[in-house]
Parts: sequence; structure tokens; C-alpha cells
Amino acid sequence: MSKTSLLGLLEEREGEYVSGEEISRLLGVSRTAVWKQVRKLEAEGYRIEAVPRLGYRLTGKPSRLTLQELLPKLRTSSFGRRLTLLDVVDSTQNELRLLAERGAEEGTLVIAEQQTSGRGRMGRSWVSPAGKGIWMSLLLRPPVPLPLTPQLTLLAAVALSRAISQQLPALEIGIKWPNDLLVDGKKISGILLESAAEDERLNYIIVGMGISANLEAEDYSEELLSKAISLKMASGQTVDRSALIAAVLEQFEQLYKLYLEQGFAPIRTLWEARSVTLGKRTELYTPQGTVVGVPLGLDDMGGLRIELPDGSARTIYSAEVGA
Ligand code: BTN
Repeated sequence: MSKTSLLGLLEEREGEYVSGEEISRLLGVSRTAVWKQVRKLEAEGYRIEAVPRLGYRLTGKPSRLTLQELLPKLRTSSFGRRLTLLDVVDSTQNELRLLAERGAEEGTLVIAEQQTSGRGRMGRSWVSPAGKGIWMSLLLRPPVPLPLTPQLTLLAAVALSRAISQQLPALEIGIKWPNDLLVDGKKISGILLESAAEDERLNYIIVGMGISANLEAEDYSEELLSKAISLKMASGQTVDRSALIAAVLEQFEQLYKLYLEQGFAPIRTLWEARSVTLGKRTELYTPQGTVVGVPLGLDDMGGLRIELPDGSARTIYSAEVGA
């Protein structure tokens, strides 16, 4: 039995109880198979009431992001004020790039319920199932030189971690350099910056943010499950995605204004305070090979200052941080 047939039946008879016996007869499956499917639908966010002798009744469906719900929560002046909300897209990065090339203004946002080819850093893919996460891209047109764009990667990580802490204060969010957000050493969010430049001049930046809000264990591969976790799995609470999106945009806009007014110094302090990378012996896989050392802090550009075993110092600008 496919769950859609059970769901179809319950939706068709919404508001009414359908007995387990009738469902199993109409769908040609056992009562146990019906029960298993009910549990599966519940895990996906459907609410199904089960009453002895009456049967099953659909009482709630998974939440969908809607503009009606999101717009009243926005507290920003420009971030997210131009907003495209899509059902399915290959990647919100691609969608926003098209808008950026047509002159879209700073703060333009693309959100999707599902991505079929979500992109991660280092050429990896990004798991983006429907209706459970926050998959969105924000357009920035900062008046900064191209070599300083990594600073915005770090700023984005601070914005996301502050927003998540605001919504779920019990979770302790740490930032792994440059911009992975972790809870108990497992990744809950990733940030991908893609920039466009002409003649060494920065044209725009697309900040891709992926927050694994309400994903369940079965949404991850076994390999990913050892390294990643959702906010729901970590906190035991279903996340209000529209409230979290509004909080991210608010934090991001505030920090971005601060950055444009005062430069990188305040962002650097905020990032360092939330870092889980500093002060511990770490392996860094750089394009030039593995470096082992103790990260000490950020430099003025946003690079990671490392103390090497011989006591000398080095700054790393691109690497994957290992154990
Ligand atoms: C990472 O590897 O940690 C970065 C992941 C970034 C994922 C987000 S989801 C929204 C946006 N669209 C994409 O295709 N990727 C980013």
C-alpha cells in the first residue's frame, strides 16, 4: 500500500472517521499495514486521530510555508521584502542568480519548499526534502572589495546561529569554521556563498542558507546521520519555519548594517565567541594538503589563524575543518 492511497482516502473523507476495517478492505491490505502507514504519515507531520471502534480521522496536515503566514512576521526593512516562494526548484541559488542578473535589488529572497539539486560547499549536494527545511537564498550587493567576501560567510553564520538560539534557546549552537552550525558536534545548517564579479569588481553575492529544521532521521542517509541532525531531532520540538525565517532575516539585516558601518571587527568578535573551532588541535584539509594546528582566531580578512606544532603561525583561507 502506498501512503498516498491511505492519505487520499483520509483526505477524501476529511472530518470523518474511516474504520481500520474499511481502509484495509478498500486498499486491500492488512490492518497492521494500515497502522504502519498511519504512523508514517504522522512522522511526516500529518495528524491522525485514532479512536477505537470509530477508526481514523485526518485532523492536521504538515505545515506549508505561505506568504500570508510569513509576511506579517517580517521585521526587516529590505531583507526578504522582495520574496519568491516556490514549491520545487533545482536550487534556490540558480533561481536567485536569474533575478540578480536581471537587476534584482539587495535583500531579494528566494525560498523553496523543496530542492531537487540543492548545492553544498566543495561541490557536494545538499539534502532538501519537501516541507521540512528552510532552503533559501538572499541577494547582497555589498560595496566591498572582492577579497573581503569571505567575511560575509562568517557574518551569515553568526546571523543564523543568533536566530536559531532566539527561537530554540535550549540548543547550544556552535560555529565550525567557516560557517557550519553544529549542535553537539552535528551539523544543523550550512551556508554557501556564490559571488559574481566583473573585472575583479564584486557585482553581487548570493547567500544560500540551508537549515535542517524539521527533518526526521529517515530523511538522512546512514552516512549523513552520523554527522548531521535537524533542529527538531535535537530539540524534540517542531520548528515554526516562518518564525525562524523572519528571525534569520532580522539578525542578518542588523549584522549587515553593522558590518557596513563599522567593518569586520564587531562581526569577528561575535563569530569568535560562538566558535567551536578555536583553541583545539585541529586538522585542516586545504587545497594544498593537510595542516595540523591549533586555530587561534580570525584575521582581519576572515581567514583562520593557526598555531603550528613548531610554534609558528599561519593563516588559512580555504579548507575543510576535520577532527
Ligand atoms: C554547505 O555545504 O554546508 C552549504 C549548504 C547550503 C545549502 C543551501 S539550501 C539553499 C541554497 N540552495 C542551494 O542549492 N544551496 C543552498
